[in-house]
Amino acid sequence: MYDVTIARDPSPNTVIRRDQGLVWHPYTPLRCPPPYEVMGAAGVSLALRAHDGTRYDVIDGMSSWWSVIHGYGHPTLDAAITDQLGRFSHVMFGGLTHEPAVRLAEQLVGLTPEPLQHVFFADSGSVAVEVALKLARQYQSASGRPERRRFAALRGGYHGDTTGAMGVTDPIDGQSDVFSGMSADALFLPRPPAAYLSGRELVSEERALGQWVSEVTHMLERERRDLAGVIVEPVLQGAGGMFVYAPECVRALRRLTEALDLVLIFDEIATGFGRTGRLFAAEWAGVSPDIMCVGKALTGGYLSLAAMLCTTEVAERLSRDVPRPLLHGPTFMANPLACAVANTSLELLTADWEPRVRAIEFALGKALRAARRLNAVREVRVIGGVAAIELNRQVDIPAVTDAALRAGAWLRPFRNLVYTMPPYVCTPDETATIGRAMVSAIAEVHG
Ligand SMILES: Cc1ncc(COP(=O)(O)O)c(C=O)c1O
Repeated sequence: MYDVTIARDPSPNTVIRRDQGLVWHPYTPLRCPPPYEVMGAAGVSLALRAHDGTRYDVIDGMSSWWSVIHGYGHPTLDAAITDQLGRFSHVMFGGLTHEPAVRLAEQLVGLTPEPLQHVFFADSGSVAVEVALKLARQYQSASGRPERRRFAALRGGYHGDTTGAMGVTDPIDGQSDVFSGMSADALFLPRPPAAYLSGRELVSEERALGQWVSEVTHMLERERRDLAGVIVEPVLQGAGGMFVYAPECVRALRRLTEALDLVLIFDEIATGFGRTGRLFAAEWAGVSPDIMCVGKALTGGYLSLAAMLCTTEVAERLSRDVPRPLLHGPTFMANPLACAVANTSLELLTADWEPRVRAIEFALGKALRAARRLNAVREVRVIGGVAAIELNRQVDIPAVTDAALRAGAWLRPFRNLVYTMPPYVCTPDETATIGRAMVSAIAEVHG
């Protein structure tokens, strides 16, 4: 059993006081409910201090937004970054290259679906999505179809917060009016039918599937002349609601994009590197995209880095008649420290991700069974290293966060969801503590 530590510290929390009204936190007003101060992070634990001085030693159920898969302060990752620090920490990538970047590109090409052979390094997931969208537009233009400019995306999808990525993200939170006109209007395809794990397969209702495929076929055929491509998170929509959908929909999109000369982009920034129980979520559908974006777990949670991969057909089309550059080049592209730590993170990952993720899936499935009995719970979903409890109401976020901390886990609920994506190094006991904290926090706050 994981030992939860809660202690009182009577001295005033000056960091939180200085923070308030000075710095913005993600998706919050400047004067938001006080955050927790991080006093330390080691293994799967976070040492937190609240504004009233309460100290919590808890398990990180969020893997720091799904990136810290090997835990905090991993000695092998620390050594990799320190070693690179002793050589050089940053160089521009224009006209220069270095071993950590080349090795990482080789590893990524080796791990991702076989047709993906070329790599562009970006400094965050959103930027990787921007680059993917730009490459798809350049591909269509180089193919003599410059009028194909828009993208199709799924209702419920999330692809990042930069303007291009925002344009293909479902404006589900209803705040997008402020930004109207900043990004091109996407063609939003209906949300695919939900899917459920049955043994090791994802199944969904046949009739709903058939309807979805025929509606989407009609929409894409109707709009094909304007469209450059289709972007989706395969099988699992993350920030859009931890929603699992039918692999058959991914296969249908592959068939349609091929038939209509559209570029198919898989955003595997959240799902990649084992999170759904397959190394890439695309494997559930058994298809490969033209372009894929990866990030988050790639970094081991150390330094911001993401990548876009594409097929030779896409890469070489750009230069078919005249050599054309891919028009992007951030200052911190392929940062050597980030690449060095990502290389080691991938080596750790490939050693044992599968049994670890399977053990997490098993422990969460067991711990969350109790949630199904709660009145406030609409649905419980578990797939690989992701578990979500969907409520039939909005979550009281500060109250559930506080109750979960007292039960031993750091969680960050949103909308009507309490969810976890634990670090892969969580033991079954630690994972069970996260699961129990989710259930007891909902029971305490929402009944
Ligand atoms: C599927 C997906 N795409 C893109 C992003 C954006 O990545 P980043 O926050 O690194 O910009 C996220 C982040 O949550 C994501 O889940």
